[in-house]
Amino acid sequence: DDNLVVLGIETSCDDTAAAVVRGNGEILSQVISSQAELLAQYGGVAPKQAEEAHSRVIDKVVQDALDSANITEKDLSAVAVTIGPGLSLCLRVGVRKARRLAGGFHLPIVGVHHMEAHALVARLVEQELSFPFMALLISGGHNIIVLAHKLGQYTQLGTTVDDAIGEAFDKTAKWLGLDMRRSGGPAVEELALEGDAKAFKFNVPMKFHKDCNFSYAGLKTQVKLAIEAKEIDVKCPVSSATSEDRRKRADIAASFQRVAVLHLEEKCERAIDWALKLEPSIKHMVVSGGVASNQYVRLRLNNIVENKNLKLVCPPPSLCTDNGVMVAWTGLEHFRVGRYDPPPPETEPDDFV
Ligand code: KG4
Ligand code: ZN
Repeated sequence: DDNLVVLGIETSCDDTAAAVVRGNGEILSQVISSQAELLAQYGGVAPKQAEEAHSRVIDKVVQDALDSANITEKDLSAVAVTIGPGLSLCLRVGVRKARRLAGGFHLPIVGVHHMEAHALVARLVEQELSFPFMALLISGGHNIIVLAHKLGQYTQLGTTVDDAIGEAFDKTAKWLGLDMRRSGGPAVEELALEGDAKAFKFNVPMKFHKDCNFSYAGLKTQVKLAIEAKEIDVKCPVSSATSEDRRKRADIAASFQRVAVLHLEEKCERAIDWALKLEPSIKHMVVSGGVASNQYVRLRLNNIVENKNLKLVCPPPSLCTDNGVMVAWTGLEHFRVGRYDPPPPETEPDDFV
């Protein structure tokens, strides 16, 4: 089992990533190429441009992953690739590459669910994390809380009714005129450190809903209105803003972050109580997805989880944001129990996928 070696390919959004992972959890390589310039240019992900960018780099990213793992295709046990959810144009670039490679070298192929990969990578990080466990998965497109009963068997306890928290971070960054050459979340987190989190009284979403769902569209609007009301000149980058203007922006960032995370805290508490009734043996709560790399998010959720006598498992930031390791690892988990497709034909038309 330790000798299994799987290549993972991820192209669901704007990062082209590949990694090689061994059955024992050893990461042999990890390569990522991100579309920072495109993000800045379009203020977000534009599917057609993203697809072209993936196509330009996919061969090199995969080759680099194999080279830095010091292996060739012949040493692989299987190829794992994200098949959804994500932008279909982008997903196809990864799937085509995986099928071509697997076909050429007669390797089995494992289709991976992107959100399952965000959750399961925690089992690579924390060896004692066994089923059943809970997972809060927070990214740009998703905001779900699930109960993982066993491999492949999940109950969704809550999801967003509109936007995900990462989308709210990204729009807040954009509207505050922050540097968009990386995703918005880290920029808001950094500016929030200077701000007063109680300066703006944003409402916590869905405070009186007795379920475990999330909503971030209303908070986004509150942030937009606050920026307009304060007459901040957001065309002027924050780096050259006056100190008073900079402070206003920092206060908004900090107040937004506090309320965005309070909403997570409230729903997590409720979800843990619910999950423990269904599966009393739960010991862990995983928090993963891009937003889980935020230090404030980690700190606040750790308090909630510890109060409920559970242990928080948060992968390191490089494994929280989209990456190839999580895909390779999830591929390994499924491959081990026989869930994979036979090698594709050596040649198939490119438009097959
Ligand atoms: O999981 P991910 O890399 O891609 C998706 O599957 O969406 O998550 C990306 C999201 C973006 O919205 C980004 O702004 C957010 O994660 N993010 C953060 C931080 N780092 C990334 N949000 C808040 N604080 C951060 N430090
Ligand atoms: Zn993701």
